[in-house]
Amino acid sequence: MVIKNVNLEIVIGVTSKIPETTLPEVAFAGKSNVGKSSLINALMRRKSYARTSSQPGKTQTINFYNINELMYLVDLPGYGYAKVSESVKAKWGKMIEKYLRTSKQLKQVFLLIDIRHDPSANDKMMYDWIVENGFRPIIVATKLDKIKRSQVQKQVKAVRNGLGLRKEDVLIPFSSETKQGLEELWKYVDSYVLE
Ligand code: GTP
Ligand code: MG
Repeated sequence: MVIKNVNLEIVIGVTSKIPETTLPEVAFAGKSNVGKSSLINALMRRKSYARTSSQPGKTQTINFYNINELMYLVDLPGYGYAKVSESVKAKWGKMIEKYLRTSKQLKQVFLLIDIRHDPSANDKMMYDWIVENGFRPIIVATKLDKIKRSQVQKQVKAVRNGLGLRKEDVLIPFSSETKQGLEELWKYVDSYVLE
C-alpha cells in the first residue's frame, strides 16, 4: 500500500469501551520491547510516529492508527513487563483479551517474537488466546538484524517449535532497522483490505 496519510485516531485505556470502527483492523501483539511500535512505524514508513522506547512498557493503551482511511493498524500494550504491578498486568491482559474477543473488524493478529529468544510461557499463552479467539496468527520474528545470517534458520526453528506452529503457519523474519521482511509483511496486511 502506498501510504498517503496516517493518523493516531483512537486511543483506549483499561476503562474504555472497545470502539466500533467501520474499517478493517489488524493488530500487533507481543511481549514488551519486542518491537511492535517500531514495526508499525516501518509499515507506515514513518520514523517515529508511533512512540517507541528502549525501556519496556512504553505502549500502555490500545492505539488505532488510521491508514489512508482504509484500515487500522492496532498497537497493543506489551505483556511480561516486570515493572508493573500484578493488578496492572491483569488489567492490560483483560483489555487485550476483550479487544480480541469483541472487535468486529479485527481481521488478523500478528504475534511478534524476538528472533533471538525461545518463546516464553507468556508468548505461548498469547498465541493460545489468539487461536482461541478464532484467528490463525501470523508470527513476526523481530530484530532480525541482531543475529548473524548463519543463525537465522536455527532461530526460526526454535520459534516455530517453541510455539508449536504447524507447517502451514506463516512466520516472517523481520527487522525494523534494515526493513528486511517489510514487503512480505505488507503483502499480508494488504490482503485484509483489498478484495
Ligand atoms: P512496548 O510498547 O513497551 O510494549 O514495546 P514495543 O514492542 O512497542 O517495542 P518498541 O517498538 O518500542 O521497541 C523497543 C526497542 O527495541 C526500541 O529501542 C527499538 O528501537 C528497538 N527495536 C525494535 N525493533 C527493532 C529491530 O528490528 N532491530 C533493532 N536492532 N532494534 C529494534
Ligand atoms: Mg510499543
